[in-house]
Amino acid sequence: MQSAPCEAESAATTGLNAARFSVQSDDVFGRIASRYDLLSDLFSFGIHRHWKRRVARLIANEDWSELLDTASGTGDIVLRVLQRQGTPVSRHVVASDTSPQMLDIARRRLARMGQHTELRILDAQRMPEIAAGSVDLYSMSLGLKICDRAAVLREALRVLQPGGRLIVLEASNIPIAWLQRAYLCYMRLCMPIIGWLATGGDASAYLYLLRGIREFPPAEELVERIRELGFEEVRFERLSLGIVAIHTARKPRVNPAPSQTNDARKDYR
Ligand SMILES: C[S@@+](CC[C@H](N)C(=O)[O-])C[C@H]1O[C@@H](n2cnc3c(N)ncnc32)[C@H](O)[C@@H]1O
Repeated sequence: MQSAPCEAESAATTGLNAARFSVQSDDVFGRIASRYDLLSDLFSFGIHRHWKRRVARLIANEDWSELLDTASGTGDIVLRVLQRQGTPVSRHVVASDTSPQMLDIARRRLARMGQHTELRILDAQRMPEIAAGSVDLYSMSLGLKICDRAAVLREALRVLQPGGRLIVLEASNIPIAWLQRAYLCYMRLCMPIIGWLATGGDASAYLYLLRGIREFPPAEELVERIRELGFEEVRFERLSLGIVAIHTARKPRVNPAPSQTNDARKDYR
């Protein structure tokens, strides 16, 4: 594993980090790494497994030889991809995260399965270690709301080769307003109780999660933002009524003119 770039600008200050989370100021994922999988089951009542199965199926069905999964945590997505198809020699998988503790768990889980995956410490907002145009498929699951999403998507665009695919699973919005309000209300009331009990009183984990869910843009808006940054074929699919959505996109096969890219960056909010 390589060391993380520590000089990355605090994403929390950019306003495009829904959870206002910064790895540099809170090592919450390091602290909860050993309980992360249990917390995921508790917070989502196990439904995250269904969401991740769907993401893994999408990834496995794509044509790629170089997969970069970022904010991989304990490796749920890559594990599911490899469970579906093994690791043919023609396919190379990188699972990455800023937290060594999370990746240690991913490594142990992968070893139990006898699968080979390269594990790297990478900040998805800035990855000078990854060459431009070197990745066929970029995935991120449940990480975008705790990062500067514009920085992450720009990096994804940079590292993808022309024609490469983006697959992002993230919290979203239930399109029925009263149901969305009821869901947020339920989360606000129940999450602190479940979170408090499950983390032994470490409030950070569920406070970031709550804020990230509340402040993350609706699925349709995220489509626009992804498009503005230069992706094409941007689509989304709601899961569990819209509690989460999977956004997919493609890097254009021909690079857009630089002036177009700059304009898109300027407009991104
Ligand atoms: C909510 S977990 C998601 C883990 C996994 N993808 C999943 O779906 O279970 C978010 C992960 O993002 C990582 N993370 C936070 N900020 C990051 C960043 N800037 N770059 C890469 N990973 C980051 C955390 O360490 C954590 O493992």
